[in-house]
Amino acid sequence: MPDAIPTIPLNDGTHMPAVGFGTYKLNGADGVATMVRALHNGYRLLDSAFNYENEGAVGAALRKSGVPRDEIRVTSKLPGRRHAYDRALATIEESLYRTGLDHLDIYLIHWPNPQTGLYVEAWQALVEARRRGLVRTIGVCNFLPEHLDRIILETGVAPAINQIELHPYFPQAPQRDYDSSHAIVTQAWSPLGRANDLLGHATIADIARQHGRSIAQVILRWQVQLGTVPLPKATSDARQVENRSIFDFALTAADMDTITALGRKDGRLADQDPSRYEEF
Ligand code: A2P
Repeated sequence: MPDAIPTIPLNDGTHMPAVGFGTYKLNGADGVATMVRALHNGYRLLDSAFNYENEGAVGAALRKSGVPRDEIRVTSKLPGRRHAYDRALATIEESLYRTGLDHLDIYLIHWPNPQTGLYVEAWQALVEARRRGLVRTIGVCNFLPEHLDRIILETGVAPAINQIELHPYFPQAPQRDYDSSHAIVTQAWSPLGRANDLLGHATIADIARQHGRSIAQVILRWQVQLGTVPLPKATSDARQVENRSIFDFALTAADMDTITALGRKDGRLADQDPSRYEEF
């Protein structure tokens, strides 16, 4: 197995692996087996959500893997239908029951749902959950600067993490700049574009050839060098190992610019603009 995945510091004094493992659609016994493989292949951050309906599988994988609990970071996320303060706290408690853990390492608000308009309340609940020791690190997903400004202004607490859609068609430069200027780490969901045509892109293939790497490795390395934390999901041992073996080469500044230049004005995969799109 390659060396341990490096970690990066968060603004609350904790650390997080520089590459995590996405668990969307990993459910049931097959999902547990895939997550156990990921842990045995050295992943130490499992990214789940209440709405993935696999928090139980995550907890089972953690126990089955034999990896010590304190070496693993488990993330879950608060769904849009549970933003009201009391419901949010009860949902976090439910996430604990589902995982069978006594705390979650990271808890994020899944979507801001600005039309619903309860995300400040949800954030207050996460702050309280951290105070009670239910969760260690709190953050958000899919928050735009206007949403972040508001929760920081109204609670005085900045999130440690903002998890957003990020891949070469959607490099998110303004949001990344906002996050880093507020000491918020940006995590990338769908880092491989959910295996769309990016994985055969001729421009990235050229760069990959020059480095003797795969296209997936170049995309994930690009994300790491941007200062973001990708959360790729992969089923087989070979892909799991491939996706985390990105810390023994570096892209040049020109490579970085070439990949970033593939970005499109709205390169979102499924038109999920958080100012309009709501998920419950
Ligand atoms: P599989 O789960 O069969 O391994 P994303 O992380 O952007 O959501 O993309 C996940 C998709 O990318 C999955 O369909 C996964 O397939 C595929 N995938 C993951 N790693 C690789 C890789 N190294 N090469 C090609 N496809 C990959």
